[in-house]
Amino acid sequence: MRWIRRLAWGGILGGGTYWLARYFRPQHSTLVLNEKVVLITGASSGIGRALAFAFARRAAKIVLVARDRERLEAVQREIEPYTSDVLVIPADIANDAQLQQVVSQTLERFGRIDVLVNNAGLTHGGRLQQQDPARIEQLIRLNLWSVIRLTQLVVPHMLDNNHGYILNIGSGLGRVAMPLFAPYVASKYGLAGFTDALRRELDRTGIHLTLALPGWTLTDMIPPETEDVIERYGFHIDHPDDVAERAVLALVRGQNELILGGALPKWGVWAERYAPFLVRLYWRWQMTPEWIATMDKL
Ligand SMILES: NC(=O)c1ccc[n+]([C@@H]2O[C@H](COP(=O)([O-])OP(=O)(O)OC[C@H]3O[C@@H](n4cnc5c(N)ncnc54)[C@H](OP(=O)(O)O)[C@@H]3O)[C@@H](O)[C@H]2O)c1
Repeated sequence: MRWIRRLAWGGILGGGTYWLARYFRPQHSTLVLNEKVVLITGASSGIGRALAFAFARRAAKIVLVARDRERLEAVQREIEPYTSDVLVIPADIANDAQLQQVVSQTLERFGRIDVLVNNAGLTHGGRLQQQDPARIEQLIRLNLWSVIRLTQLVVPHMLDNNHGYILNIGSGLGRVAMPLFAPYVASKYGLAGFTDALRRELDRTGIHLTLALPGWTLTDMIPPETEDVIERYGFHIDHPDDVAERAVLALVRGQNELILGGALPKWGVWAERYAPFLVRLYWRWQMTPEWIATMDKL
């Protein structure tokens, strides 16, 4: 009996020490953003716009990409006081030819891409059988295919320069499978897997990947009439500026992954990994008619 107790205490102490050492370890990075060329997709609104501000405040040169030229130019005017150079490229990044244009125009102007931020994305909720197949295809193409393809186009240039940083904006739903969002969840799980696999593939090449997993964030993605219900069910809604600031800090610190959205998503990720039955019970309890009707609006 005594040796079992010793073993248990040894495990607790060893585990505790390891956790504390990891938690308090100093985080270093070689990334100084001043004058770095940062390409941001989906930069015309929400988290992308906030990221443009966060990078511009650190004096990076910014390339803003989205479809709507006018909204991009509005962001350009807003961030110009902070940064020496902003390039606006209106493009549909679900289109291969336009993606190639984005990369070639950026290289023509700046000669390099130091940081790639894959942020553009769309969501829609509802039961799978009620979702429009064309919209599912559009979602997968934007949230997953365009990220893989743009990264594929940019990585060779980063390899030539022996350095590069990639910030992928995933979602908490890329680590926790939430019902009523199956295609979106698939795209974000795909993005998380892509990031993990590519990080291993590019190990020791000087290219670093950070995956940020936002929780609910106050952007055009969340219709105002759904905010109340989301908060009443215990979720925290973040401001895009906070999400962007924390994502940039994680990138600069060389963090692999950042879970945002407060305590609930963090517990969710832990439970999904180690006790998925708890998540199943949680969602069984959460799927009230009110919740289902609210998610239909997204
Ligand atoms: N808001 C949330 O609660 C939340 C939570 C977790 C994760 N996220 C993730 O955060 C990222 C940003 O979302 P957000 O909430 O900031 O959304 P948002 O405000 O709707 O912004 C989406 C951005 O993507 C651009 N975009 C859409 N389709 C595009 C296309 N085909 N080609 C190029 N750009 C395109 C939009 O501009 P145009 O329409 O002008 O093209 C816009 O700039 C997404 O990946 C999303 O999945 C959001």
